[in-house]
Amino acid sequence: MNTRIDSMEAYHQAYEKSVRHPEKFWADIANEFTWKTRWNNVLNWDFKSFDVKWFVGATLNITENCLDRHLEKNGDTPAIIWEPNDPNGKGCTLTYRELYHAVCKASNMLKNAGVKKGDRVCIYMPMVPEAAVAMLACARIGAIHSIVFAGFSAQSLADRINDATCKMIITADGVYRGAKALNLKEIVDNALESTTSVETVIVFQNTNAEINMQDGRDVYWHNAIKDCANECAAEPMDAEDMLFILYTSGSTGKPKGVVHTTAGYMVWAAYTFANVFQYNAGDIYWCTADIGWVTGHSYIVYGPLLNGATTLMFEGIPTYPDAGRFWNVIDKHQVNIFYTAPTAIRSLMAQDDEFVTPYSLASLKTLGSVGEPINEEAWNWYHEKIGKRNCGIVDTWWQTETGGVMISPLANITPTKPTYATLPLPGVQPVLVDAEGKIIEGNNVEGNLCIKYPWPGMLRTTYGDHERCRTTYFSTYENLYFTGDGCKRDHDGYYRIIGRVDDVINVSGHRLGTAEVENAINEHIHVIESAVIGYPHEIKGQGIYAYVICDHLPEDEHATRREILEVVSKVIGPIAKPDKIQFVTGLPKTRSGKIMRRILRKVAENDLSNLGDTSTLLDPAVVDAIIEGAKKI
Ligand code: WT7
Repeated sequence: MNTRIDSMEAYHQAYEKSVRHPEKFWADIANEFTWKTRWNNVLNWDFKSFDVKWFVGATLNITENCLDRHLEKNGDTPAIIWEPNDPNGKGCTLTYRELYHAVCKASNMLKNAGVKKGDRVCIYMPMVPEAAVAMLACARIGAIHSIVFAGFSAQSLADRINDATCKMIITADGVYRGAKALNLKEIVDNALESTTSVETVIVFQNTNAEINMQDGRDVYWHNAIKDCANECAAEPMDAEDMLFILYTSGSTGKPKGVVHTTAGYMVWAAYTFANVFQYNAGDIYWCTADIGWVTGHSYIVYGPLLNGATTLMFEGIPTYPDAGRFWNVIDKHQVNIFYTAPTAIRSLMAQDDEFVTPYSLASLKTLGSVGEPINEEAWNWYHEKIGKRNCGIVDTWWQTETGGVMISPLANITPTKPTYATLPLPGVQPVLVDAEGKIIEGNNVEGNLCIKYPWPGMLRTTYGDHERCRTTYFSTYENLYFTGDGCKRDHDGYYRIIGRVDDVINVSGHRLGTAEVENAINEHIHVIESAVIGYPHEIKGQGIYAYVICDHLPEDEHATRREILEVVSKVIGPIAKPDKIQFVTGLPKTRSGKIMRRILRKVAENDLSNLGDTSTLLDPAVVDAIIEGAKKI
């Protein structure tokens, strides 16, 4: 992008302009894209009712910006490099031209199946190029994609399909996870037993697993696509038409469908990718996320493709065939920019050096981190052992709701400090507030992180329930977007994210609501009540600790624990399985019935020195029983 920042001076100038003249600032950036019609107005906003619109009145199609726009000059540039799960397997590379035709063909496949503009399409796929093709095909014809991570259970999948009333699901027969292959189609079949909206299931053949195909409903991808034309006109979309829904967990209730719209998301994904990673033509960029998470949406697919970049997609896991796989792939494909999560860094750091030393890693120039706070030890290991002290580290703070990176260094430009996400990107106006909602000025302070001005990539609503969106993000503090994170601003004005201050936990970079996990545990027939909290976990960042009350104390605790883990896997997915389960006979509740989680957290952390005031508890004696019981966990 021409508007890319290349020095600290340019950063300060851009930041200043983005605050003083935001509309002019974003109009200049938006002018770099292909529009069918220009906007009448750059921004309309109101945080009270929560109504935000960017590039009002403009029409465009994001795939023309991801694909068509690059064909003339860069048609032969690799767009996607695919590295399969099996290190000896056959990978592939799709050039921009090949990807363009693949997307057009898939667009026609969706149209033939009756998918129309505005329809919701669920994507439940392994990390194969067809997953990206499916996303882009939806966007090309104006269908709204809702990607569900292929590790979620049938029940979670069904909930998401029902909430968005998806008309189609695109899936695969199976998914490889290291040495294992899982049958995905079976999960889809189970999910579809409790849904009514899905008319067509498109099945990509990936593992050749034996699966059931239901006549009239299920078709193989290769059959459905084979006669489709490789050109497909892009649907003109309004700037504020929905591009995708992505479900994420919150403090209360079921996961909500975060909605991103077309133009603002596009501009934000493109601008943040270009600036944070300082991508240059010819660079090979690799983000290890799954497309089922927002990181995959913005920084495997949309951000890189909008910039004409080469993005590597990896099907496997970091430990297969051994803990050197990431480093092996970096050398094999000469990766220049590598973006992963602290949990992966910590788990690889825990392995012997012999998994790293055989690799040169000399192609690397930038390393990224995302998803959770990165501890100093992991930051230093990443910097020294992987970056050889030669690569800038970008610790990027953002959320599903923000669409793209909000606070981050610009690679090899912003001076970094371990564990600090450093400075806000242009267009981002962070504030820290105290418990009363008063803005905390100055440096060397700590508070709850809010954003006081709209940015193009922000969520617009939660699907089907705007009021829930407004109350979740805009009612805690007046006229501010509340992130749910606690944050420190140091003497240099640098930001350091401390972690969630609400009932959301972050397990290996996966976001889970404590209520959601409790509800799952409570589905076990003998469970009466449970309380779930996050506790510090060396590898996962946070582990899940569950205090569980059963109708009678289990005779065989091991067996009941195993059953509870199975129930949680079935209701949510394996990622939500508690690391520790303690059976208790009572929970510390106030007289009004509220669980005092603070006490449960202290017990789980084994920090009993200062339990705080327990006099307001209904029955203070339960605390002693819990402390006693915790010793055996
Ligand atoms: C939550 C958002 C960002 C895409 C992947 C996760 C935590 C995210 C960082 C970071 C400290 C971070 C926050 C945030 N988080 N990045 N660099 N440092 N914490 O998206 O699932 O929506 O989770 O992840 O707590 O609120 P998400």
